[in-house]
Amino acid sequence: MNQDADFSVDYQHRLRFTRDAFGNGNMVLRDVMAPQADGPARALVFVDDGVSDTTAGFLRRIERYFAANADRICLAGAPQIIPGGEESKNDRHLLEDAVKAIHDAGVCRQSYVIAIGGGAVLDLVGFAAAIAHRGVRLIRLPTTTLSQDDSGVGVKNGINAFGKKNYIGVFCPPWAVINDSDFLATLSDRDWRSGFSEAVKAALIKDRSFFERIASDAARIRARDVDVALPIIRQSAEMHLRHIVTSGDPFELTHARPLDFGHWAAHKLEQMTQFQMRHGEAVAIGIALDVTYAAMAGRLDESAVETIRTCLLELGFALYDDALSDADELLEGLEEFREHLGGRLTIPLLREIGVGFEAHDIDRKRMRAAIGRLCDERGASIRRVS
Ligand SMILES: NC(=O)c1ccc[n+]([C@@H]2O[C@H](COP(=O)([O-])OP(=O)(O)OC[C@H]3O[C@@H](n4cnc5c(N)ncnc54)[C@H](O)[C@@H]3O)[C@@H](O)[C@H]2O)c1
Ligand SMILES: [Zn+2]
Repeated sequence: MNQDADFSVDYQHRLRFTRDAFGNGNMVLRDVMAPQADGPARALVFVDDGVSDTTAGFLRRIERYFAANADRICLAGAPQIIPGGEESKNDRHLLEDAVKAIHDAGVCRQSYVIAIGGGAVLDLVGFAAAIAHRGVRLIRLPTTTLSQDDSGVGVKNGINAFGKKNYIGVFCPPWAVINDSDFLATLSDRDWRSGFSEAVKAALIKDRSFFERIASDAARIRARDVDVALPIIRQSAEMHLRHIVTSGDPFELTHARPLDFGHWAAHKLEQMTQFQMRHGEAVAIGIALDVTYAAMAGRLDESAVETIRTCLLELGFALYDDALSDADELLEGLEEFREHLGGRLTIPLLREIGVGFEAHDIDRKRMRAAIGRLCDERGASIRRVS
């Protein structure tokens, strides 16, 4: 006899904000690690080389932190360095190395993998943690603006394959996420800027007043004024978290992914530039393209397009890249996006600032014209900084 039995699994998402997470007396990390029945909680730490190269003595600080909290936590092995950046998600060997390091350190399903780094390292190490023993606990310490305001709180882990973004991966919530704002100090201007397009994206889809705040503070954010920027990173992280825990579809089993606004073109542009374009840079162009399209389709006011473009330009984003000149290839991104989501094509678009809607039919001719408009407006765009 057939049986259809519903069941559900409860998760808890733990998000913490702190400074100097490995400083003397900082309890945040030790407190999120539940002790094991037979002694201190064991952890294997992976560190993005962008962090270890720019913060003198960082690995020793981690070791000192664990030594000072030895009653509760201990290292399962020496901290592992992972090359930072998108290239790492294109290198299958790094995944194998990470899984092997987890194996060699004897990490069990109640031990922890701690990933410290930008979104690429978090995706890669998170995937390794999700497949070792079919899943060991993962604690993320995101170290870029983008990973702190978006990807770090997400439930997706993975690497690129067949030239496509995130083709291999899993949905698997982290045990905890600790946003330590001190990490952001060593970022290049490019990586500092990159994360704010994700905050703009979330604001445009869900919260007009948040967008207005980002827009009015854009120049100060670009100038790295932390008093203005950190609350925006925090609000964006909280919005992403709220979406995951309240949308009813954290593992994206249906087609609705409002926070992928601007992403169909972004993923394709990253691919077309051999991943030289940062994800956040590509998202800025993807947003500019989709709002231009929405206006050309009569769904969004031209004045809103202008406001959004101005905000992105003031944040320091370029809204043009040579890859836009190959509209045919870029448009292939629509079908790739549909396939990646599954089911019917669903593209989040804007009705007005702060209010999104789902479009299922994209007029290719009009989208091509929107791409053309971005190319025509290139003079008004800031060139990509490399
Ligand atoms: N899993 C998700 O839900 C999700 C969501 C959005 C984006 N992403 C992914 O995140 C990735 C982009 O992440 P990103 O923008 O953080 O860039 P990134 O991880 O590529 O890092 C950019 C550069 O910054 C360096 N770096 C990291 N932290 C640093 C620090 N504190 N100081 C100095 N340098 C540092 C890295 O070494 C790298 O060279 C993409 O692969 C994207 O697909 C994933
Ligand atoms: Zn994104």
